[in-house]
Amino acid sequence: MVGTVGGDCQALNATMRGVVKGLCNTYKDVEIYGFLEGYKGLIRNNYKLLKAEDFSGILTKGGTILGSSRQPFKLMGVPTDDGIDKVKAMKETYKKLKLDCLVVLGGNGSQKTANLLSEEGLNVIGLPKTIDNDLWGTDMTFGFQSAVDIATAAIDCIHTTAASHNRVFIVEIMGHKVGHITLHAGIAGGADVILLPEIPYDIKSVCKALDKRSEQGKGFSIIAVAEGAISKEDAALPKKKRKEKIANRPYPSVAYEIADQIKDTCGCEVRVTVPGHTQRGGGPDAYDRVLSSRFGAYAAGLIKDEKYGRLVVLKDNDVTDIPLADSAGKLKYVSPDDSIVQNARALGISFGDE
Ligand code: F6P
Repeated sequence: MVGTVGGDCQALNATMRGVVKGLCNTYKDVEIYGFLEGYKGLIRNNYKLLKAEDFSGILTKGGTILGSSRQPFKLMGVPTDDGIDKVKAMKETYKKLKLDCLVVLGGNGSQKTANLLSEEGLNVIGLPKTIDNDLWGTDMTFGFQSAVDIATAAIDCIHTTAASHNRVFIVEIMGHKVGHITLHAGIAGGADVILLPEIPYDIKSVCKALDKRSEQGKGFSIIAVAEGAISKEDAALPKKKRKEKIANRPYPSVAYEIADQIKDTCGCEVRVTVPGHTQRGGGPDAYDRVLSSRFGAYAAGLIKDEKYGRLVVLKDNDVTDIPLADSAGKLKYVSPDDSIVQNARALGISFGDE
């Protein structure tokens, strides 16, 4: 009845532990079916029958004891290579095993599928997972703060070497289509420029910010770039053209493109660092351990109350729940009007847009 779906992150194990502890506190015999590799396990009836003891000692453990895989929502209607109807198979597994409910630890796409299964009549509870913190309806997802810590540590390490060599450094940070991790890690790491998908940049403005630093006698600069950052020029293109242009750019990722643009425009020496999947690695930080334990305990309460079709969320520091359908298909973006963006601007951080 539990599955970790989509890209992994810190605190998946801590969250499952929270759910199981919460249930075992009330019920004597809890049967836990742990589906292996997320929805894949549910499709293929591949699971481990687990006991409460299996969830002991995993609060601090990174990754997921169940494994995970990406099963995109948009391909849910497309049969597997060997012809299995995915949604039908998941419903059959659920019925065959006589499950009481399905607890889905997942991000955006995975919660869309959770909502679909709920609409198909299964008892489903979603828990908000993702380093990107882009799930609509919750102030915070588990995994986000731990990823911010790692991205910040990467910027901290770059700071000393950038200062020694008087170079411009670009640190490219994960986050898919949104800039929450970059914004937080950029501020925490003291970045001079922060480039986000939600605030398209102009390379001339970026160079203006770098020149200003030089005029102030600062020999180096740090730019925190979200992997989804986009120029004003590209943002103005029709969606299809923009996608094509990005897919065909002759660089491994946006940071390398920006590095070349900076070299060409202001002649600085630029280096690129991409911490990549380290941002999803290792154990959860203290914040995520607390958050995921609270989420897990709350989900156990929903199960006891037989309140299904819900997504557990954090709202104004309280753990609560909303209908899965309310969140499905919506992304939570950084807004250029958010106070955190205004605070960063007040600190002199450039977003490359003015
Ligand atoms: O959604 C989490 C995330 O790490 C994104 O920040 C990133 O764009 C993506 O997953 C990477 O996916 P994958 O692990 O499939 O390469």
